[in-house]
Amino acid sequence: MKNADLKVENIEVSKRLIRLRYRKDDTKMNRKKVICSCYHVTKGDVADAVEQGASTFKEVKKMTKAGKACGDCKKKVKKLIKKLS
Ligand code: FES
Repeated sequence: MKNADLKVENIEVSKRLIRLRYRKDDTKMNRKKVICSCYHVTKGDVADAVEQGASTFKEVKKMTKAGKACGDCKKKVKKLIKKLS
């Protein structure tokens, strides 16, 4: 295995560890709190979408419908995605 491969692997492991750390913190997050009132999308729904691989607002919007109507939740959803990614 080359050094470059090890470096990439280390970065991936670090990203996973960061996600796990945030997941622990997520137990403090109120997963039932509605973040998008138009579609009744909760913080937990967004967290689940991120866990399933969504990393952008567009991807989360596609999976959860958050932000598809008025768009008032866009900033909050983006902030949560950033926190969880
Ligand atoms: S509050 Fe999310 S689309 Fe309206």
